[in-house]
Amino acid sequence: MPAIVLVGAQWGDEGKGKATDLLGSAVDYVVKFNGGNNAGHTVVIEGPDGQREKYALHLLPSGILSPNVVPVIGNGVVVDLEVLFDELDGLAARGVDTSRLIVSANAHIIAPYNRTLDKVTERFLGKRKIGTTGRGIGPTYADKMNRIGIRVQDLFDENILRQKVEAALEVKNQLLVKIYNTRAAEANRVVEELLSYADRLAPMVRDTSLELEKALDAGRTVLLEAGQATLLDVDHGTYPFVTSSSATAGGACTGSGIPPTRVARVIAILKAYTTRVGEGPFPTELFDDDGETLRKTGQEYGTTTGRPRRCGWMDTVIGRYATRINGVTDFVITKLDVLTGFEKVPVCVAYDVDGVRHDEMPVNQSDVHHATPIYDYLDGWWEDISGCRTFEELPENAQRYVLRVEELIGSRVSAIGVGPGRHEIIERHSLLP
Ligand code: GDP
Ligand code: IMO
Ligand code: MG
Repeated sequence: MPAIVLVGAQWGDEGKGKATDLLGSAVDYVVKFNGGNNAGHTVVIEGPDGQREKYALHLLPSGILSPNVVPVIGNGVVVDLEVLFDELDGLAARGVDTSRLIVSANAHIIAPYNRTLDKVTERFLGKRKIGTTGRGIGPTYADKMNRIGIRVQDLFDENILRQKVEAALEVKNQLLVKIYNTRAAEANRVVEELLSYADRLAPMVRDTSLELEKALDAGRTVLLEAGQATLLDVDHGTYPFVTSSSATAGGACTGSGIPPTRVARVIAILKAYTTRVGEGPFPTELFDDDGETLRKTGQEYGTTTGRPRRCGWMDTVIGRYATRINGVTDFVITKLDVLTGFEKVPVCVAYDVDGVRHDEMPVNQSDVHHATPIYDYLDGWWEDISGCRTFEELPENAQRYVLRVEELIGSRVSAIGVGPGRHEIIERHSLLP
């Protein structure tokens, strides 16, 4: 069976967790292939008694909530071991069976000194800061590229682990003390801390690429779930205001060890409006009452850091870009319900950059900073749409909105989210191959 890739189309928080959870009952493996606990996925599940249960996942793949899925932390992920076990314990305490989780031996570990470095670097950057989540993501990926990273497999050879930590700290302690004016990290303490997790981690560690290959050969379905999103991708995003991993469809292959020829579907999650957390350009950002309404109605506060998310209208320049970069076969538009109650719903169709129209993402980042949106103003709707389960049940203007966006982004909209619950979704086309 083929693999399915699921990515975010904008700047994150599109509702990837909910979409993964929705597919959970139909897939066998869910692989997180990039990022770490900078992600925050909220999944709302209705229990048998109709009671809503809310789960916030950071490091674990959202598939962990589906009883028959094998959740996988792929080689492209950076793992904070304390967070891993806290999250597992938290879920176990709520009765979720987490025993099937497997972790790549090649995944990198977020060492405690990299959490410190993330925070002090941001402080040092001052006005030029990125607005990171402070979880040590950037410094850990930098170590990976610099070839001084610590991998999951290093925990099982104390000698190697010690050598690697000492080597990394040789430079980092100079930085911490002499440049950032903070305390040095003690190699012994770091090694002790990391080793304290080894026994509990050992049974989960695998060659996950090999396991996934075997699973695909045996006819299983594998879902590769991105953290972050297209415009936060280190290569294709609004650099330097990005995360440090490959959050686009290409990253799904390198971050999991599954070859591109296995991927049959690329599903992109697109929020019906746009949000962003942290710094960086955002052409359709709103600073008025409409922005506040989107934030309040859409509950746009970060799952990871609690920061209010910046809010703005739908930007189909970004949507088209996401289609192209990821080879999107299907879009899921989420949170259409949040747009209920606006007289007019603007959709950005192109940018005006210093008097020149851009239908595609400008080549130069500074043009994105100057871009003024060119809007189509579509008529709004007032009806509560959360109970709609077919496209035809949506008010006509809501249908027109979806169809116009579909036309502009150039790939079909296969599902539409009308509420946070697992079943609050309209499926127009099956998301499965
Ligand atoms: P992720 O990081 O892409 O998984 O997204 P987040 O979980 O950070 O943010 C999406 C939020 O929107 C979560 O609180 C979801 O419960 C919620 N959500 C997802 N789909 C819908 C939808 O269709 N309508 C509404 N109202 N909320 C949704
Ligand atoms: P999910 O998976 C939204 C943003 C941060 C910051 C930038 C770099 O929930 O969609 P980092 O800590 O990764 O070095 O921060 O990226 N960012 C996210 N924004 N959703 C996320 O994840 C994010 N993960 C990182 O706010 O601007
Ligand atoms: Mg999120």
